[in-house]
Amino acid sequence: MTAIYVNDLVKEYKNGVKALDGLTLTVEEGEIFSLLGQNGAGKSTLINVLTTYLHPTSGNVTMFGKDVYREGAEIRSKISCVAQRTSIDTHLSLTENMIFQSKLYKVSKIEAGKRMEMLIACFGLEKYLKYPVSSYSGGVKRRLDIALNLMSNPQVLFLDEPTIGMDIQSRAAMWDMVKKIRNDFGTTIFLTTHYLEEADQLSDKICIMKNGKEVIQGSPNVLREYLRQDLLKISFSVKKDAEHCYECLKEAIALKESDLRHDKIITSLKNGRKDLEYTTSWLLEHGIPFLGIEIVQPALEDVFISLTGENEKEVS
Ligand SMILES: Nc1ncnc2c1ncn2[C@@H]1O[C@H](COP(=O)(O)OP(=O)(O)O)[C@@H](O)[C@H]1O
Ligand SMILES: [Mg+2]
Repeated sequence: MTAIYVNDLVKEYKNGVKALDGLTLTVEEGEIFSLLGQNGAGKSTLINVLTTYLHPTSGNVTMFGKDVYREGAEIRSKISCVAQRTSIDTHLSLTENMIFQSKLYKVSKIEAGKRMEMLIACFGLEKYLKYPVSSYSGGVKRRLDIALNLMSNPQVLFLDEPTIGMDIQSRAAMWDMVKKIRNDFGTTIFLTTHYLEEADQLSDKICIMKNGKEVIQGSPNVLREYLRQDLLKISFSVKKDAEHCYECLKEAIALKESDLRHDKIITSLKNGRKDLEYTTSWLLEHGIPFLGIEIVQPALEDVFISLTGENEKEVS
């Protein structure tokens, strides 16, 4: 079943900024759907429209077949949203926070007790029960925030940039948590991110967006296949060497579709191994201090760059 259907959605703010400009996307029930785009692409605006917080300028949005505006109250009872600012009250204890949340959603006392116990165990929060919430680390606060938002057993959970600013370990723990929510509760998860790796590791489906429009949608594998052609990667030990080589190589071999990325040059292959051999001998002849040269398959990053023209690993 389709969980979310967005068709030709436009949101123009009062200042004339068109944050969403004819966006169309479909989210299936039970999937982890990632909306990937750089800062300012319109991700938070879309979440605010989907969670009925903002009214769109035009277009259709339905959730489980119901119109998000005409049936806003019903939709709100079925969804939960973890925004960038937490909804935790640091004056309350962990359990008081959870009970407060259940009251907001009118969950019965018995049901709330059961869910609280289950969520505390599920997300490993037992050991924090005896400490004040204000003393929790950022990562634990975020875990609690998500647990709070699951008290109402939502059908769709929205996560706006859930791992922004996190270190690698906390990010991996968050990915596990998101997958667990989908697997254990069957919750549809709609998240936004500007980390390519996050979208790649986590999602059943990705929608890449730019300037308020979708650029491409599909599973990570389908997106990777988009480029279809292998690439030639030349690595250097330092960025400066890569930059120097890039300039020389551009003139010498007339590389049309090539990118300088940090300490690497990535270029599309026109003639397969011949290009590899030719480029290798050119590099050696000119005494260029490169570290390695190899033919690689396109990564999601290559697809992203090719479609959006954004040449950054983290898209922001
Ligand atoms: N309340 C607002 N009023 C006017 N413009 C806004 C408002 N919120 C966001 N914008 C603008 O809309 C565009 C999309 O913003 P946003 O949805 O926050 O993008 P993202 O979450 O992808 O970074 C940006 O150009 C931003 O400056
Ligand atoms: Mg945002």
